[in-house]
Amino acid sequence: MRLGILTLACIIGCHGVQFAIPDIDLEIAAIRRNDYVAYASLHGMDLTFHDVVTPDGWILQLWRVTSPEIYDEKRSAPVIVSHAFMASAFDYMWNLRNESTAFVLADNGYDVWLTNYRANEFSNAVLVDGNRTEPTPEDYLRSGWQYMAERDLPTIIEKVLEVTQQSKFYLIGHSMGCTITFAYLSQDHSYDDKPVFKFLLGRQLAATTGSAWKDFLGYLLSSLCYNLPSACFFTRSPHMNQTRIGIFLNKTPAGFSLITNYNFGVELNRDHWAKIDFREIPQSGLTNEAEYNQSEPTEYDFAALRVPYSLYFVDNDHFNGLQTALDTIQRLNATDYTFIKGNLSHEDAVMGFDTPCYTINAILERFEALEKQRDDDHEKYREKVSKFVDSLPFEDGCPE
Ligand SMILES: *[C@@H]1O[C@H](CO)[C@@H](O)[C@H](O)[C@H]1NC(C)=O
Ligand SMILES: *[C@@H]1O[C@H](CO)[C@@H](O)[C@H](O)[C@H]1NC(C)=O
Ligand SMILES: *[C@@H]1O[C@H](CO)[C@@H](O)[C@H](O)[C@H]1NC(C)=O
Ligand SMILES: *[C@@H]1O[C@H](CO)[C@@H](O)[C@H](O)[C@H]1NC(C)=O
Ligand SMILES: *[C@@H]1O[C@H](CO)[C@@H](O)[C@H](O)[C@H]1NC(C)=O
Ligand SMILES: *[C@@H]1O[C@H](CO)[C@@H](O)[C@H](O)[C@H]1NC(C)=O
Repeated sequence: MRLGILTLACIIGCHGVQFAIPDIDLEIAAIRRNDYVAYASLHGMDLTFHDVVTPDGWILQLWRVTSPEIYDEKRSAPVIVSHAFMASAFDYMWNLRNESTAFVLADNGYDVWLTNYRANEFSNAVLVDGNRTEPTPEDYLRSGWQYMAERDLPTIIEKVLEVTQQSKFYLIGHSMGCTITFAYLSQDHSYDDKPVFKFLLGRQLAATTGSAWKDFLGYLLSSLCYNLPSACFFTRSPHMNQTRIGIFLNKTPAGFSLITNYNFGVELNRDHWAKIDFREIPQSGLTNEAEYNQSEPTEYDFAALRVPYSLYFVDNDHFNGLQTALDTIQRLNATDYTFIKGNLSHEDAVMGFDTPCYTINAILERFEALEKQRDDDHEKYREKVSKFVDSLPFEDGCPE
């Protein structure tokens, strides 16, 4: 039966379209040249770059991924993907076309916007008097996740809405990318009443209690295995495509600043998500008064979130174990959450080759249901998308 479908798919779907798995040497060569457009095109995808400047001058490079055969300027809803600690836009396109989060979303008719937060390798510049320059040490002091939440994410959302002229969008956050999203949307309620669709969020990076240092170490180790696979061959994730290690190694870790580590570090063994208390690091030269216009740093109240969201947890997460997940759900008063089976680690949730089987396909189903409810026009477009997805000549490699 599958053979029949595939044959048919090739008759209607393969005309002039490149679906072959790219030659890995060509992929690596493109990455070495920093030619990500060529890399994406080897996978049949369109990639464009869009710079945005935050209120405090950081120049962020957004990556926009679309699938040329199905993208529709009017009907493709934007999906903003908010990346994790030490990650970059590239992490969401480093597997095959049917396995990378960004590519799979694009083939499902979405207009995919990948973030690169301040101080990662693609957003490592500031604008001074109209000139692009290197960030100063003081700029780096303002590169922790709280600044990404306060200054980067709002700027990114505005840019996406401006360029696409769309009023509805989705947000997917992974780990730190989810913390950022929560921190911003729990404070700024201007998107609550706007016609913005459900936010579906991947993993929540919680402030941890209990065996926090052990958890944090576990997290660093599991990140390290993605970022530096050769360093820990004995703990490699079964969800990582070993053949593509050359690609991962070329680009990771994508850069981060020590202040982000500090930002997370102070959360350990404290039962809250809070901004940095600059009284604790006087050597930084920054003060709470100057940064926040108040002497006490704000604690984020994630329960104040009013946009609808869904949480997904994976069950082999070193950093955010079961107890932390349950605490998070309780603290947020969350009602829409899912525990995903499959022995996935923190990174596997979005970066493994079989990610669609466990997380992305489930998220796509949620998006699909929401898109169909919009109007006849979107409903028709979703039918077209569905035919297109069925025509893609990829075998289903998901476990039964
Ligand atoms: C910005 O660039 C202009 C033109 O190259 C130059 O004249 C000016 O001095 C630069 N400003 C700074 C602050 O570097
Ligand atoms: C889960 O995955 C880890 C590696 O990430 C592995 O060590 C462990 O044996 C796996 N557990 C099961 C039940 O498959
Ligand atoms: C792993 O990557 C290689 C090289 O791109 C590819 O040929 C292979 O199909 C991938 N395996 C899976 C399971 O996706
Ligand atoms: C700082 O706080 C004071 C007192 O709450 C307020 O009057 C003032 O407008 C604030 N300044 C800024 C720049 O927000
Ligand atoms: C938690 O959610 C329930 C059900 O939606 C609601 O009745 C309750 O008021 C909420 N509690 C808080 C503290 O928001
Ligand atoms: C992606 O497509 C390749 C080629 O058909 C296939 O081998 C692989 O199993 C697919 N991956 C998933 C996660 O379905």
